[in-house]
Amino acid sequence: MYFNNDRGGYMKQSRNVRNALLVGLSVAGLTLTACGGADAPPKPPPAPPAEYADKHMPAGHWGNADIIAEGKAIYTGQQNIDVNCASCHGKNGKPVKAGARDFRQTEHMTLFSDAQWFWRVSEGVKGTKMKAWKSKLSEDEIWKVIAFEASFGLKGKEYDVAAKKWVDQGTAGKSGAPAGEAPVEEAAGEPKG
Ligand code: HEC
Repeated sequence: MYFNNDRGGYMKQSRNVRNALLVGLSVAGLTLTACGGADAPPKPPPAPPAEYADKHMPAGHWGNADIIAEGKAIYTGQQNIDVNCASCHGKNGKPVKAGARDFRQTEHMTLFSDAQWFWRVSEGVKGTKMKAWKSKLSEDEIWKVIAFEASFGLKGKEYDVAAKKWVDQGTAGKSGAPAGEAPVEEAAGEPKG
């Protein structure tokens, strides 16, 4: 917990820390109950922090059957019983715990970039049951689990980093903009009025 108002010296420190922990736990409990709506309309997640902004799916992962199979083993807890995404997100992406949203819903899934997913899985979502998995999964494993997760609502799609959108597999980066340059739409600037 980050808060500790103690200015009274060392002796009170540990009791205050314990009280702070208790308060923190009950706040977390309330938040979980309050955020339980699985049918909340999809809204775009925040932009990932700078250190995650340039993380992208390794080349050759999208739609790769071997990668997806490895991702499935992670997602379902077969690889490591402590990592069981399916216990909340459901074997087929249909949520089984309140608050975990439906990975089969294309309109929800397309709101995320690959970097945003990577960030969410690595760091979790504060105030929800989604915890940070980076201590249990390597970067490579996180990408595999994401490749599997995308196969629910985004089957046959891949994230086009230059165009900043989901496109059919095999077509990313082929929309005309040379790799590494801003896509044409973006250079056109903000719409007026
Ligand atoms: C204990 C339940 C639980 C487990 C286990 C769990 N999640 Fe989540 N996850 C959630 C909840 C609840 C949310 C929604 C958080 C929010 O409100 O944004 C979430 C959000 C997400 C998101 C962000 C997308 C979204 O719909 O908000 C991704 C991606 C994700 N989880 C992937 C995973 C992966 C991959 C694993 C396994 C490594 C995993 N989760 C394990 C409960 C869980």
